[in-house]
Amino acid sequence: MAVIAQKNPEIKVTVVDINEKRIAAWNDQNLDNIPIYEPGLSDVVKEARGRNLFFSTEVDAAIDDAEMIFISVNTPTKAYGIGKGMAADLKYIELCARQIARVSKTDKIVVEKSTLPVRTAEALKNILDNTGNGVNYQILSNPEFLAEGTAIDDLHNPDRILIGGNVDTEEGKEAMEALVDVYASWVPKEQILTTNVWSSELSKLTANAFLAQRVSSINAMSELCEHTGADVNEISKAIGMDSRIGSKFLNASVGFGGSCFQKDILNLVYIAKSFGLNEVADYWEQVIIMNDYQKRRFAANIVKTLFNTVSGKKIALLGWAFKKDTNDTRESAAIYVADYLLNEQAEIVVYDPKVTEEQIYADLDYLGTRTELENRQLVTVVKDPYLTCDKAHAIAILTEWGEFKDFDWANIYDKMLKPAFLFDGRNILNSKIKEKIGFQFRAIGV
Ligand code: UGA
Repeated sequence: MAVIAQKNPEIKVTVVDINEKRIAAWNDQNLDNIPIYEPGLSDVVKEARGRNLFFSTEVDAAIDDAEMIFISVNTPTKAYGIGKGMAADLKYIELCARQIARVSKTDKIVVEKSTLPVRTAEALKNILDNTGNGVNYQILSNPEFLAEGTAIDDLHNPDRILIGGNVDTEEGKEAMEALVDVYASWVPKEQILTTNVWSSELSKLTANAFLAQRVSSINAMSELCEHTGADVNEISKAIGMDSRIGSKFLNASVGFGGSCFQKDILNLVYIAKSFGLNEVADYWEQVIIMNDYQKRRFAANIVKTLFNTVSGKKIALLGWAFKKDTNDTRESAAIYVADYLLNEQAEIVVYDPKVTEEQIYADLDYLGTRTELENRQLVTVVKDPYLTCDKAHAIAILTEWGEFKDFDWANIYDKMLKPAFLFDGRNILNSKIKEKIGFQFRAIGV
C-alpha cells in the first residue's frame, strides 16, 4: 500500500488495523520504529506518509470513504476443526467481509490481496450481497508476489501484476480496469495480466508451490551429493545454465521457511483432497515432507558429528530469521533446528542481527515442546557474534546474512573449543578457507 501511495500521489491510501499499537508504530516519527524491517521501506513511507498515505484505527470510516478496499489480513493454516493443520483459516477474511457489508453505503471494489484458496471470491461475494445495504460489489483477486527482504524492489519492478475478476460482465471489466490503472502508474501495461478470478487465486498458490518445489528438489539432491562425492553447488550451476530450468531458487539449504510456502502448499493439498484428487495432493505434500526432513537431517547431522551427543555442549546458532534482510521468523528452519538440539540437551546461544530476543523465545514457546522457563534456561540470545561463539563446541549458520561472510573467522576459531565444528546450513562460506583455519567444516550437499 505504501508503494501504491508513493506511485499515485493523487490517490488517498488509508491503511487500517484494529491493533492500536501497530498503527501507532506505523505513525511513529522515528522511521526506525515502523513495525517491519524491509530495505527501502522507510524511505517510501517517509515520502508518502501524511501526503496521501495514512495509518489509522478508524476502520469503519475508512471503509465508508473508500472506492476500492484491499483485504490483506492473514490466512494462517487452520489450527482447529475440519481441515486442521492443512486448510487456510478464513475467519479474518469473513470478518472483514461482514464489516465491509455492514458499513458500506456506496458501491465498492473489494480486492483480495491475502493469499486465498481458489473460489474464496465466491464466498466473499455471497456474504457481501446477502448481508449488505443493497450496494454493488465487484470482487477482484490481486495476489502479491513480492518476497521479503527484497519487497520494495519487487514492488517497484515486478515481473508481472495479476488481476483476476469477473470477465463476463461490463461491471467486472470496469473494476479490473480501475485496478489496472492504479498499477499502470509505474508498471508497463504488457506486464499487467488480467484473468478470470479463479485462475488468479490458483496462480498464487501454484507460483509458491513451484518455488518451494525447486528448493525441496535441490535439497533432495543435496543428500545424494553427500553420499556420492558430487557437489550440490556445482550441480545448481550446471543445471541452472539450462535456460529451460533457470538459475534462481536452486540454493540448497537447511530448509525453506517463511509464512507462505508451507501454508500455501498445505492449502493446495487440502483443496486437492477435498476434490478427491489424492495423487495431486500426495505429489505436492512431498515438497513439505522433504523440507521437514531436511531440517531434521541438518540437526541430526550436528549430533552425529559431535560424537553422537550434544548434551551440555554449547552450540552457537548464527541467524534466526527465515532468510536474510528480514526480521520475520515465521516457520524459520532455525526454530526447528534449535528445538531438535534442545531435545538432545544442547545449550543454545543465538545471534541474529535483526531478530529480537523476545521473538526468539516466543517462537520456541509457541512450539510447546518445553516450558517457558526451560526455554529461557537453555537458550541465550547474544547481541555480539563473537561472544556467541565463545567456547562453543559447534557453530551452525541458519540464515544467509551477508555479514556472516565478513566475520573474523580465525578469531572465532581461536575462541572455540576444539575440535571446532562449523556447519554451514546456507552454503555461504568457502570450505577451503575455513578448513585451512582449522575448522571441521560441513556444508549442505558437499
Ligand atoms: C515467497 C515467494 O518467493 C514470493 O513470490 C511470494 O510473494 C511470497 O512467498 C508470499 O507468498 O508472500 P518469501 O517467503 O518472502 O517469498 O521468501 P523467498 O525468497 O521465497 O524464500 C522462502 C524460503 O526459501 C526462505 O527460507 C529461503 O531461505 C528459502 N530458499 C529460497 C532456499 O532455501 N533456497 C533457495 O534457492 C531460495
